[in-house]
Amino acid sequence: MAHIELDCPASVKKQLAKVFEVSLRTTVPDEPDVVPSVDACAAKSGVKFADYQCNNAMGIFAKLKGKQSGFRGPPGVGQAIVKNLPQSEMIESCSVAGPGFVNIVLSKKWIAERLERLLIDGIDDWAPRLPVKTVLVDFSSPNVAKEMHVGHLRSTIIGDTLSRMLEFCRAETLIRRNHLGDWGTQFGMLIAHLFDTFPNPEDFNETAIGDLQAFYKASKVRFDNEPEFKRRAHLSVVQLQSGEEVYRKAWERICDISKAEFEKVYQRLGVRLEARGESYYNDLIPPTLDKLDKLGMIQEDDGARVIFVEGVNIPIIAVKRDGGYNYSSTDIAALWYRLNEEKVNWNIYVTDVGQWQHFDMLFKAFRRAGWLPKGENEFPKCTHVGFGLVLGEDGKRFRTRSSDTIRLVELLDEAKKRCKASLLERDAVKDWTDEEIEKTAEAVGYGAVKYADLRINRLTNYTFSFDQMLNDKGNTAVYLQYAHARICSIMRKSGKDIEEIKKVFEESLTNLLPNVLCEYLYNLTEIFTKKFYTNCQVVGSPDETSRLLLCEATLIVMRQCFNLLGIGNTAVY
Ligand code: ARG
Repeated sequence: MAHIELDCPASVKKQLAKVFEVSLRTTVPDEPDVVPSVDACAAKSGVKFADYQCNNAMGIFAKLKGKQSGFRGPPGVGQAIVKNLPQSEMIESCSVAGPGFVNIVLSKKWIAERLERLLIDGIDDWAPRLPVKTVLVDFSSPNVAKEMHVGHLRSTIIGDTLSRMLEFCRAETLIRRNHLGDWGTQFGMLIAHLFDTFPNPEDFNETAIGDLQAFYKASKVRFDNEPEFKRRAHLSVVQLQSGEEVYRKAWERICDISKAEFEKVYQRLGVRLEARGESYYNDLIPPTLDKLDKLGMIQEDDGARVIFVEGVNIPIIAVKRDGGYNYSSTDIAALWYRLNEEKVNWNIYVTDVGQWQHFDMLFKAFRRAGWLPKGENEFPKCTHVGFGLVLGEDGKRFRTRSSDTIRLVELLDEAKKRCKASLLERDAVKDWTDEEIEKTAEAVGYGAVKYADLRINRLTNYTFSFDQMLNDKGNTAVYLQYAHARICSIMRKSGKDIEEIKKVFEESLTNLLPNVLCEYLYNLTEIFTKKFYTNCQVVGSPDETSRLLLCEATLIVMRQCFNLLGIGNTAVY
């Protein structure tokens, strides 16, 4: 797991830790290693006794046992910590509770000042700072002519959110890389089938081929059943690899058609990617393997050329028995290129957990070669961000009703269609323009698909259910969008000029876990709706101005979260 020290000047926890650090140095001057431990207080049966707590007293007492410390149990240490606290405008009061926790209540005045800064300066300065120059996120990465499946959809959604988070933290250069599977022996049969189907090369284009997946399947059937075709398919691979013009052109056509299909998915999701497919690294494979060979890392194994790495009993196959290269050979060349040519400091790969071993071995090989530092957390570093399977409501791998694969475009269209249908049932929609309805159905529909995925810890399997993700009362994007629109409507009803009124997250990133951000957004929305909005009248109340400000501050934070999650939002809903 990635562990990166972030610089978070806005973090309340970190600021409190600094205050407590001063006290700890006075309380136990002979224990300079004690690190302040400050956490947000959890609510006990719905009640919160304090905002934050310092947990050091128990550990300190245990450490001092046997020494003449003069403290009366851990609570005594807690008392001393409180007594030695320096003056701080953040803290209203502190008290020692239970076995020695120091409960901290924040100063209302200090909170109000922070809110004021948020309203005036916006949220950008609240972002933690990432001490890394160039970060590359390798995500989505579907395979040409094969299906782009729900696994690729998960990679696309998670990778995009991680990229947005890294951008928010001002990574100097962020590369969103689409490592397209655009090379391999499957092109032999595709090209052979293409030549048979369209003797005139001018005739093959997007419309002529129609469904590339069906085309792939048809050529696979022939490959498996017609020996003569199989022979020609093999020959085509050789021709393609030797750079034969017509073969090269056919390959390009197939790639272009596939890419156009992928682009439709990216467009709907609002995801940007920079494509550099596997084919790009072809010529780099032999020289990179040569370097590893010179380091004595490549050995012969049953006709193949392989690399063994620490703690794993199977090797990486760098060159197959037939002399060809594979997925691993390409990743070796690609990582070498990223480290040496693109000077990437942090390489993040987003794929299903099933590829964990592939990446573990790749990184270990690079460490063995001395191309990555020995310490896993030293830079330049590599991280595999894995995720679980997408399951259908029957608990099995997700598939659509009829066919055995899912067209992602259709899946997204379905989400939008369902949102539009439920929108049209509402009275308020009567005065909306068609464009407003379309835009809202898109923001809500695509947002729902993303949020349903992101809110789950990515390592667990996730069940795809339209009914669940579109439920307006659950922990869904729909519910959040609705709350957001309601706050907007309060602001509108107040008739005040927001700009006029204005005058008066770190955890999620350190562990690369978007669900932490979702949890935060959901809690914020719940607190706003259930604690504030249902109890406090806003428009027309004597406290209207300050309550509107609180609404506005909530909106700023909600929008920033939506933005990081790649979810569009609507002011009306
Ligand atoms: N194309 C691969 C797949 O569909 C994912 C590629 C991930 N990136 C990489 N550098 N290996 O499983």
